[in-house]
Amino acid sequence: MELFIGIMSGTSLDGIDAVLVATNGQQAELKASTSRPFAENLRQRLLNLAAGHAITAKQWGELDTELGQAYADIVLQLLAESGISATQVRAIGCHGQTVWHQPLGQLPFSLQLGDANRLAAQTGIVAINDFRRKDMALGGQGAPLVPAFHQQVLGNTKHMRIVVNIGGIANITVLAPGQAALGYDVGPGNMLMDLWCKQHRGQAFDKDAAFGLQGQVNSALLANLLTEPWLALPAPKSTGRELFDEAWLVARLPAAISAADVQATLAEFSACAIANEVAKWPAGELLVCGGGGHNPLLMRRLSALLPNWRVDTTNSAGVDMDAMEAMAFAWLAHQTWHGLPGNLPAVTGASRPAILGAIHLPG
Ligand SMILES: Nc1ncnc2c1ncn2[C@@H]1O[C@H](COP(=O)(O)OP(=O)(O)O)[C@@H](O)[C@H]1O
Ligand SMILES: [Mg+2]
Repeated sequence: MELFIGIMSGTSLDGIDAVLVATNGQQAELKASTSRPFAENLRQRLLNLAAGHAITAKQWGELDTELGQAYADIVLQLLAESGISATQVRAIGCHGQTVWHQPLGQLPFSLQLGDANRLAAQTGIVAINDFRRKDMALGGQGAPLVPAFHQQVLGNTKHMRIVVNIGGIANITVLAPGQAALGYDVGPGNMLMDLWCKQHRGQAFDKDAAFGLQGQVNSALLANLLTEPWLALPAPKSTGRELFDEAWLVARLPAAISAADVQATLAEFSACAIANEVAKWPAGELLVCGGGGHNPLLMRRLSALLPNWRVDTTNSAGVDMDAMEAMAFAWLAHQTWHGLPGNLPAVTGASRPAILGAIHLPG
C-alpha cells in the first residue's frame, strides 16, 4: 500500500475535504481526514462565478491562486494532524473547484480552479489535478468519476448494490453482481435545498432538515419539477449549477406557497430524482455517501420511496460517507501516478479508458 492524499471541494461549495489514504488500487484505507469550510467571502465569489457572472482576468487569476493556497494549507494541516511527512506521500489528487461544467455542445469543457503548481511547491508533493478534461477530449462527459472508485471499494458483492453520492448534485453507481459498473448524475442533491434555505433562513444548508420538516410537500410543484426534461435523458449524463440554479427554481414556483413548503418539496424532489432511477433496478442495497446522507428527511424519504431496498449509508459497508469523494480523488491520483486509467467509458461515454489528470512536480 502507498499513501495518497485526496482533496475534494464539490458543487455544494460548503468547503474543502482532504483525506490521507493508503491504497494499492484495489483496496483503499482511510488514514486521516480533515475539512475546512470556505470563508463566506470566497464562497460568495465562487457562487457568482458559477452563476455565470462576468469577472475580470485579474479576479479569475487571483481566485485560482487563492484556491490553490487553500488546498496547500489543508494538505499541510492534514500532514501535521496525522504526523505523516510529505516524503511518505506519493501524490495528491486534487479535484479543484468546478466553476463551469458543460459536457455537451460544440465546445464541451469542465473547468476547475485551484492552482496545483502552488499545491506542489508548498507541500513538496506531486500534485495531480484537471481530472475531467482528458475524458472529455475523448468524447466523454468528464463526469461522474467516482463510480470507478465505488466499484473498487464497494463492488464484487453477491447482491445488488447502488451507491448514491448526495453532494450538490446526486450521482449513482450501479454495482450489479457480475456486471460492469454503471453510473450517472441523477439530479440535484442538496443544491436547490441549500439555495432556498440560504435565501429564506440565512443558513448555508437546512441542518437536520429543521426547515423542511416544518413544511408540507406541494404535489403540484413536485410534479412540475419532475417534468424537467434532463431527468428523462438516457445516460451518460452529468449536470451542475448551470442547469439547477435559482432561475430554474423560480420559474417553476407557484404564486402562493410558503417557504417551508418549498423546502419540503425540494427535499422530496431530490429524493424522487434518486429513487426513480434506483427503482429501475432489481432491489438490493442503497448506500448513501456525501453530505445529503446527514439529512434525516432525505434519508427517510428514500427509505419510504424504496420499500424493497435496504437504505443505509456507506459507513455500514465500511467506507466513511463524508470521506468517500475525497478518497476517490486520492485513488484517481494513484491511477494516474501508475499510468492506469481512471475513467469508466460506460459511465462517462468516453471512447476509451484513459490516464486522467495533469501532473505537477514539486521540484
Ligand atoms: N446535518 C445535515 N443536515 C442536512 N444537510 C446536511 C447536513 N450535513 C451536510 N448536509 C448537506 O451536505 C452538503 C455538503 O455535502 P458534500 O458531500 O460536501 O457536497 P459537495 O461534494 O457538493 O461539496 C451541504 O451543503 C448540505 O446540503
Ligand atoms: Mg463538500
